[in-house]
Amino acid sequence: MGGCASCHTKRVNTQTIVILDFGSQYTQLIARRIREQNVFSVVLPCTAPLAEIQSHAPVGVILSGGPSSVYDADAPPADPAILALGVPVLGICYGLQFIAHHLGGKVVSAARREYGHAEVSILDGETALFAGLPPTLAVWMSHGDEALELPEGFRRIAQTSNALAGIADEGRRIWAVQFHPEVHHTPLGSALLKNFVFGICGAQADWTPAHFIESTIASIREKVGAGHVLCALSGGVDSSVAAVLVHRAIGSRLTCVFVDNGVLRKNEFGQVTQNLRDKLGLNLVPVDASERFLSELAGVTDPETKRKIIGREFIVVFEAEAERIAERIAKQSGGVEWLVQGTLYPDVIESSSVRGPSQTIKSHHNVGGLPERMKMKLIEPLRDLFKDEVRRIGRDLGMPEEILGRQPFPGPGLAVRIVGEVTPERVAILQNADEIVVSEIKAAGLYSQIWQSFAVLLPVRSVGVMGDQRTYAYTCAIRAVHSEDGMTADWAPLPHELLKRISSRIVNEVRGINRVVYDITSKPPGTIEWE
Ligand code: XMP
Repeated sequence: MGGCASCHTKRVNTQTIVILDFGSQYTQLIARRIREQNVFSVVLPCTAPLAEIQSHAPVGVILSGGPSSVYDADAPPADPAILALGVPVLGICYGLQFIAHHLGGKVVSAARREYGHAEVSILDGETALFAGLPPTLAVWMSHGDEALELPEGFRRIAQTSNALAGIADEGRRIWAVQFHPEVHHTPLGSALLKNFVFGICGAQADWTPAHFIESTIASIREKVGAGHVLCALSGGVDSSVAAVLVHRAIGSRLTCVFVDNGVLRKNEFGQVTQNLRDKLGLNLVPVDASERFLSELAGVTDPETKRKIIGREFIVVFEAEAERIAERIAKQSGGVEWLVQGTLYPDVIESSSVRGPSQTIKSHHNVGGLPERMKMKLIEPLRDLFKDEVRRIGRDLGMPEEILGRQPFPGPGLAVRIVGEVTPERVAILQNADEIVVSEIKAAGLYSQIWQSFAVLLPVRSVGVMGDQRTYAYTCAIRAVHSEDGMTADWAPLPHELLKRISSRIVNEVRGINRVVYDITSKPPGTIEWE
């Protein structure tokens, strides 16, 4: 990820829970569950030096799960001194085993693995971790190792019919559970985490949108001083919220550039311009470069080549515009040295994860390469936030639901939803079909419940009949998926009545399409976009 880690906005005066990541697929969920309680949390790799952990002045530390075995030679090397920092520690799954192993207990491969739903009996209802919880809990287990012997000072506080499920040493202020309180399948998991955060760590719920906005604005002002800032707006939630935050901080010294790449949705260029410039007062420069993009895309059918062309042309167009803006500004003051980027927390965690960067399936188009090329410094006001938190902040900033509630839209736009060559005619056909899909899904009240729902134009033509006329036209695929983060997705079972209406409207209203099919592929093995 391009960017300058030291340049992100700094939080002021929020209490922090540090989560050490041992590589579990659920680590981000722990952070989200803590933040849902309005308590700030950061995820650090388990290899983070003690000084870095201490620099966050944590009020508590959580050790995540992970795929390794603590007794393996290649177990992730974390410093056991984190167990003696003097702040409360909660171990989860691998975290429990880490504690047992490093404090003198014994962890072995379990005779019976526990994976999936399980029932836990609480042995000590007086334990602060279980305050207010019933004597038995439905939980989610996922482990192959178990702590056979406990370190001195520890006792069992929970148990399944099969194995140990929780330990504590109140003297050392260390608690641990073998199950995963952070996942949905542990219904009372949030209550348990709440007990840890408030009852044990004594945290205050001071991580609120208002606090975030106030401290972010203050730190942007401090950083930028009298300087000027540029923002590449995509019209999506992240770049819009980032721009509005920076605008609150420095007003018209922020200039936003919004490029029409010719593959936006129907009326999107005008709507985004209206929303952000006219309704929110941003200093927005709309650049219609659609002809340029479409002429570069002419004759190209390979998905990766399309993506690369759009990424490349975006940089060319943006740089030229930035230069124009910089010239204008230089006449009044010192030029433009800052660039806003809507980086989110999952990208930050992913790039430092102990699991390492994931394999590239598609080259994503974003503004990642711009800061280095243009020698600009980065402002990343959303670097600490998850997507749902970005929406909360947007709401607190008074942004319209029309912007905040938008489903994600890929940088290369409709180009990756037109299989085969992108032509102005095909873009227009897809825009019309897509508009029908979106408006019908909105009318059915499903838009906000679905991660993404859209139309894809296939180069396949088939024979149909309309009135008494033979038709020979394109096929349109409908794609609708449920997802938490876009990394995995399930196809959404849209009601048949809705599919019927969408299909009938597309075939009747969109010239060029005479057949509609429904994509019932999940990710993996499919991807969400077709290209
Ligand atoms: P795939 O198709 O890889 O998409 O399953 C996962 C999520 O990422 C979005 N997407 C992109 N977003 N630039 C973006 O900003 C891109 O180049 C890009 N390609 C795909 C996609 O819409 C889905 O939400």
